[in-house]
Amino acid sequence: MSIQVVVLGAGGHALSVADAAESSGLEVVGFVKGKSDEGHGSIAHPAIELSEVRIDEVLFTLGIGSNQARRRAYFSLVSEYPLAKFATIIHRTAWVSSSAQIGEASVVLSHASIGPQATLGIGGVLNTGSSLDHQSKLGDFGFLGPGARAAGAVTIGDDAFVGINASLVPGITIGNMSVVGAHSLVLADVPDRCKVFGAPATIRSSKPVDEKHRTPNKPWLRWPVSREPDSGNDVRKTAPERN
Ligand SMILES: CC(C)(COP(=O)(O)OP(=O)(O)OC[C@H]1O[C@@H](n2cnc3c(N)ncnc32)[C@H](O)[C@@H]1OP(=O)(O)O)[C@@H](O)C(=O)NCCC(=O)NCCS
Repeated sequence: MSIQVVVLGAGGHALSVADAAESSGLEVVGFVKGKSDEGHGSIAHPAIELSEVRIDEVLFTLGIGSNQARRRAYFSLVSEYPLAKFATIIHRTAWVSSSAQIGEASVVLSHASIGPQATLGIGGVLNTGSSLDHQSKLGDFGFLGPGARAAGAVTIGDDAFVGINASLVPGITIGNMSVVGAHSLVLADVPDRCKVFGAPATIRSSKPVDEKHRTPNKPWLRWPVSREPDSGNDVRKTAPERN
């Protein structure tokens, strides 16, 4: 019997995640909508309600592109349903080194590549054709956009977002919650909570920013479960005990 997965999210990213899951032999049983999926043009499939799901018989996956919304959905689910377990989804065309480590609920889409001793935290996304090279790190709920390249020994912080086709040279750090614009060439460290873009990339804002990659000016997804992490960046402090 195949392993069944439920996708949290029902937009375009959810479609890609479902496709990756199916490519690796998992069975997608449905998509759970967030509130801002209502009326979204790219809703992928008929939605199911969490109440219809046998929590202990399926695995969950995060089909949500926004880092903040993905984090929120993860913590909402595991605090409301302590038995819920997340799959780590790796598209069958992705390359993952045997010495790489991938955290719970992360997603690696088609043709992405993860080099030796690289690590992904909880809920990370390596989008289509992106690469995280040797000894690099993508933090919890971080996002490497389609075609984005992190060279060796790059650190990408928690909740950081790297836009499509950006290039990060060896050894640099992208701070927590920072945003790297599409097609940027990043040559130096980026502090926490900064927005950078251009080639070479320069700091354009040092306030918390949203990635503006899909639904600008819309509120973050709200999920139909109520308990959420207290706040802030320390994922592990707020994460419930997991078996
Ligand atoms: C960097 C980014 C977040 C900036 O958003 P923003 O702060 O709202 O910026 P604006 O759209 O208001 O643009 C401000 C200016 O910066 C320019 N600009 C924006 N993004 C840029 C980029 N990546 N590279 C170069 N210039 C950029 C705009 O053309 C505009 O120039 P102008 O003032 O001369 O008109 C956004 O443009 C971006 O690159 N997002 C990543 C999208 C992505 O890769 N998504 C992947 C989805 S899977």
